Amino acid sequence: MVAARKQILGVCYYPEHWPDERWDEDARMMADAGIARVRIGEFAWSRIEPQPGGYDWDWMDRAFETLAAHGLGIVLGTPTATPPKWLVDSMPDMIALDRNGNPRGFGSRRHYCFSHRGYRRECARIVTDLAKRYGRHPALAAWQTDNEYGCHDTVESYSRAALEGFRDWLSQKYQSPDALNRAWGNVFWSMEYRSFEEIGLPNLTVTEANPSHVMDFQRYSSDQVVAFNRLQTDIIRAHSHGVPIAHNFMGRFTGFDHFAVSRDLDIASWDSYPIGFLDRDTSDEENKRHYLGVGDPDNQALHHDLYRTCGQVRNGESEGRWWVMEQQPGPVNWAPWNPAPFPGAVRLWAWEAFAAGAEVVSYFRWRQPSFAQEQMHEALLLPDGEPNEAFEVCCRVSRELESIGAIAAPKRQDVALVFDYESAWAWKIQPQGRDFSYIDLVMRFYRALRQCGVSVDVVPPDPGAVSDRRLVVVPGLFAGTQALIDALVAGDATVLLGPRTGSKTADFHIADGLPPGPFRRLIDVNVRRVESLPPFASVPLADGGRFDGWREFLVPGNGVVTKRAATDGHPAHVAQGRVHYLGGRPDEETAKAITDEILQEAGIETLDLHRDIRVRDNGAVRYVFNYGPEPVDVADIFDGAQTLFGTTVLPPREVAAFRLQPE
Ligand code: GAL
Repeated sequence: MVAARKQILGVCYYPEHWPDERWDEDARMMADAGIARVRIGEFAWSRIEPQPGGYDWDWMDRAFETLAAHGLGIVLGTPTATPPKWLVDSMPDMIALDRNGNPRGFGSRRHYCFSHRGYRRECARIVTDLAKRYGRHPALAAWQTDNEYGCHDTVESYSRAALEGFRDWLSQKYQSPDALNRAWGNVFWSMEYRSFEEIGLPNLTVTEANPSHVMDFQRYSSDQVVAFNRLQTDIIRAHSHGVPIAHNFMGRFTGFDHFAVSRDLDIASWDSYPIGFLDRDTSDEENKRHYLGVGDPDNQALHHDLYRTCGQVRNGESEGRWWVMEQQPGPVNWAPWNPAPFPGAVRLWAWEAFAAGAEVVSYFRWRQPSFAQEQMHEALLLPDGEPNEAFEVCCRVSRELESIGAIAAPKRQDVALVFDYESAWAWKIQPQGRDFSYIDLVMRFYRALRQCGVSVDVVPPDPGAVSDRRLVVVPGLFAGTQALIDALVAGDATVLLGPRTGSKTADFHIADGLPPGPFRRLIDVNVRRVESLPPFASVPLADGGRFDGWREFLVPGNGVVTKRAATDGHPAHVAQGRVHYLGGRPDEETAKAITDEILQEAGIETLDLHRDIRVRDNGAVRYVFNYGPEPVDVADIFDGAQTLFGTTVLPPREVAAFRLQPE
């Protein structure tokens, strides 16, 4: 049974930014708008502890009481993303260093180094005191650790603390310098070390550093995020028994292993800024123009399906929880250009999240500040304290949530798309073609699945995550584990292996016996050459479509069928039984065509959707979204089923839901 909790709205609030006299009015307006959760505190260290050891709890006590008096549940952030000036001055080496060795100075946020022991002690101290004071407060609904680990490129620090920590981490991993030299291939260019003390960080090298060295530093840095977070969650659990703990992850961000951090979280959440992200994705200009004020229809959806899985890591599929901790309400301040949402977009985003099983959608932020870095970032209220457009949307969505019952989190989907953080690091370290991006490769397959009307779980490369599926898609998985391959061999799912899968060992060597290395247990094919291509070139395929940017030269073994070939005759897509291998980065047309065929082979229903329409199945309810500028008739998808809300001619940026026929 999948847990069903009532869906609610939230907001991020900074009482310390506003006069105390206004707080009661704010809390009343929040409650009137149907808001149930209010996140506070995550940047408030300098107000909680203005002097070393001199706490000022008074204002936060009053903020708790004011919000609680209006029935609001509080999400309390630990303030460790913003160490105050006095703390930095008391131990200046807690500051992170960038890859050029420059300090990431005070004056914004996230200026700390994850490896610094002294800073960790300070964090443990303030989190302990915060948890002791508020951990049992009846209005406390959840915790948030820190804020957006890794934001502003802050996972890695090239500091003395990181260097010492890295050496220690390496000595534990390899036990002897010889073992490390072999694993890294240090005989190359005379890079051999005689002791762990000789090893440096992989920055400031003359040309590229050894990929195995960089990969281990990335793993080390990711482990520091995990440890930093665990330090806080252990303390919170000791003093705030039973209150769930969340962290707010980001979009299009792969700098640390989110599945590993999620082992210590009860709730995975993420910060969704659909328009802000549009600029970062690699779709073409026409696509960006078309979706300018609503965002790419598949980008936020991919993250919902990923973070839903993260939310299940600790407590299992049936108890998994995930939220949107920050939802864009209007133009933001941080993208190169900041368009306003099209009418309907803000509501559409909330429904796409709820349909994907989000328990809370929480707007960032309550009131637009008239000062400091984010004064150009819109909010539910204008800087003058009057409601802005998103406030009205919030009222509407909360009324709608009131009128429908709880939405269960979606059950395990038939289709799993494997997502792996190490692969993202690997292809960043060694892209081989300038524009090769792991997340974009994954997105090509995800988009194709969504365009076929299929709902997807985005999962880690673990045996448990791929078992009991009808289709497993594995694009660009850098190094497969034996356990994963055993599970794929033992199962009966159709499997689509994408380019670069299995092409390296975990040590970052070319796979034994050529790629796809251990995946040859699933399909007898060798990759004997790869080529990367500039944006102006591509590889046309004989039956239409093309590979762009990346193509492999495949040598199929006996019993392997060529399903598609390039116009120059080289096999491009091969299959053996239920396993397919795709030797290139497919353009949209090719990805869609292959996905469609494979879904049919796996016996999964596909839909023929209009460009702007997306569908999400959640148990017995199917949600249909129109991301486009024109009304679209979706009656064929409804097929006479009972409408829960919305209309079959779906206006621009509208959503409809209907009950699926029982199977
Ligand atoms: C998020 C961050 C918030 C705020 C917001 C602005 O990345 O967590 O604190 O900066 O962006 O869009």
